[in-house]
Amino acid sequence: MTYTPEKTLADLVRQDFPILHQEVNNKPLIYFDNAASSQKPLAVLNTLRDYYEQDHANVHRGAHTLSARATDAYESARDKVAQFINACYREEIVYTRNASEAINLVAYSWGLNNLKQGDEIILSVMEHHSNLVPWQIIAQKTGAVIKYVQLTATEEFDLEHYQSLLSDKTKLVSIVHVSNTWGCINPIEEIVHLWAYEEYFGKHLLKLLLRIDALVVLFLQ
Ligand SMILES: Cc1ncc(COP(=O)(O)O)c(C=O)c1O
Repeated sequence: MTYTPEKTLADLVRQDFPILHQEVNNKPLIYFDNAASSQKPLAVLNTLRDYYEQDHANVHRGAHTLSARATDAYESARDKVAQFINACYREEIVYTRNASEAINLVAYSWGLNNLKQGDEIILSVMEHHSNLVPWQIIAQKTGAVIKYVQLTATEEFDLEHYQSLLSDKTKLVSIVHVSNTWGCINPIEEIVHLWAYEEYFGKHLLKLLLRIDALVVLFLQ
């Protein structure tokens, strides 16, 4: 991609998104609602179209050519995603229909089996409902207690408050990286470091789980 005085980065990126090639209210469409339903660039649209036109079949369940191609595409996407998010193993990539299903999966599998009366779950006040409701239900079922990280005076994630909430009762930290409501980018590295410090030096090794809601940040990248 090359910048020229005539073309801004936005002009260049817009070219890749056919849906933006239209006017709404007599103005070029600008779309900011980039969360679960982000717009798709041509490369994605073309790949989906090619797949349905040439390769679509049942994955992992057929012995014929199309099924083999569909399975290869499905599994190589797993490798690409693993590389993109720097996962250690391809098996860490678990496909779900959406972020809510993924969070519910963790809540009902890990949460129900590992949380007990008095354990603490740390969320923040800026979480999407899909990162609140499953934990509220699991807390009701297990007797775990939810603690919410508040915002600073400038309405950002309050790291000091977060640190003050971490204790040997903390069993889960589940925080959004880029908030869809606030639009802010949370200091996820510090959140992870403080969690890891507590995990290793607080002597409750392997009892804590850290979950990051990276939905918006992955689309933005
Ligand atoms: C930060 C965040 N987490 C979770 C969700 C829920 O996503 P889904 O609709 O894929 O379940 C959204 C949806 O916009 C979101 O912005």
